[in-house]
Amino acid sequence: MPKIFEYIPSEKLNRLLKGYSEAFDTAVFFLGKDKEVILKFPEDAIVPELNMVPLNVRDSMLGHVGIPTGGAENHLGLICQNLSEMAEMGYEIESLSGEVARNYEELSLLWRLSSRLGAGLNVDKICNVIAEEVMTICPSNNVSIMLVIDMPTGPLPTMGAKVVPKPQVKMSLLFPKVSLGRDASRASTTPLATDRGLIGFVFEKKEAITVCDVHKDARFEGFPYPVTGVLIVPLIVEETVIGAVIASDKLNGEEFYTTEIKLISGIASACAVSIKKALLFDEIHEMLFSTAEVFSLAIDAKDPYTYGHSKRVSEISVAVAKMLGLPPETANWVRLAALLHDIGKIGTPEDILHKHGKLEPTEVDRMKEHPVAGAKMIEHIEKLREIATWICHHHEKYDGTGYPSNLKGEDIPVPSRIIAIADYYDALTTDRPYRKAFPKEEAIRIMKESNGTHFDPFVFDYFEKAVS
Ligand SMILES: [Fe+2]
Repeated sequence: MPKIFEYIPSEKLNRLLKGYSEAFDTAVFFLGKDKEVILKFPEDAIVPELNMVPLNVRDSMLGHVGIPTGGAENHLGLICQNLSEMAEMGYEIESLSGEVARNYEELSLLWRLSSRLGAGLNVDKICNVIAEEVMTICPSNNVSIMLVIDMPTGPLPTMGAKVVPKPQVKMSLLFPKVSLGRDASRASTTPLATDRGLIGFVFEKKEAITVCDVHKDARFEGFPYPVTGVLIVPLIVEETVIGAVIASDKLNGEEFYTTEIKLISGIASACAVSIKKALLFDEIHEMLFSTAEVFSLAIDAKDPYTYGHSKRVSEISVAVAKMLGLPPETANWVRLAALLHDIGKIGTPEDILHKHGKLEPTEVDRMKEHPVAGAKMIEHIEKLREIATWICHHHEKYDGTGYPSNLKGEDIPVPSRIIAIADYYDALTTDRPYRKAFPKEEAIRIMKESNGTHFDPFVFDYFEKAVS
């Protein structure tokens, strides 16, 4: 297609030639770069000897305008100027519509991203979505989403050390979080240094780079998989690079285009904050559970025979919760409730907790206060109110003969029913001052005698599967 038609469609050019022809009473020709006739008016005009002038738009020669010698040659400049202005307008419209289309593509991509990510705070999910979108934009041999992890180096300070240890130096490495494509297995196992090579360059400049052939680039220090062309886009939050999107070798063998780099950079800047939030959420979550574990050890430490009891109960409880099909988030809260189920025992006198012989009725009553005491401690934390309820009812029995509320059957929260079973099982399978631990099979046999009275038979089935 002659280049002129990119700026002035052929029908419009035809109409223009007709207009010039009628206005100046002459045949008008449009010729290509090599002076071949492309359009003319009248259509049956014979090509005589022509006077021609080149038609240029933005330093680009589109062809020639010609009229027969001896005709209205003085109007040739005017016709050429008018055609040039028309072509210039066409060029503007063309580039504007291209920009509108690109902006539309970028906006729809960001809209799709936000609807796929939702309000979720799961790092794996966010990284998966990014990798899939990048793979859709430019299908490649490999797309990896990598995140920075600070690794401490040097010895840890030791308690009682006479020499003050030097502060630990942190080494930042880029660890693969999600990898898609042919080289995913190799890409997903090897970390990369953030202070060297192409990655080091991206971290220093805080901008995306693309290299057509890394083997011709002195900065390249090797990747854990074969690579020739690569695109590296940093994930930046408040001037700090928290990771990178790496795409290598497009499947069609072409280089990474500017429009693709722009789109992927858009994804990176839209998702970097979500990743950072999710990482912080994980950190807080981890801190909450570590703190709960420390509390549970403190409770268990009151009695050497129950040391580690709460942690074991939490492990069994979460396994049963998952087998029951509770959502992962609920299963996590069950883990927390199980870790803290006996926290109320902090207020139980040690002479009662440690008593080897039979407890007096008043001592039994005191002991039975611990579920409510524990729930009262936990319910002060607004977000943990539901967990407090589960803790409160972990000594209820399925037939309604438990405590503190004599709840029966389905009225007992499911997590409390799970913890009740795990709690009893751990008590039977650990040594006590008055007996040795029962083997697993014997413990389950003993518990089966109370299945349906003490324990919920439905939950018990899943408990059996979980411990076996
Ligand atoms: Fe308890």
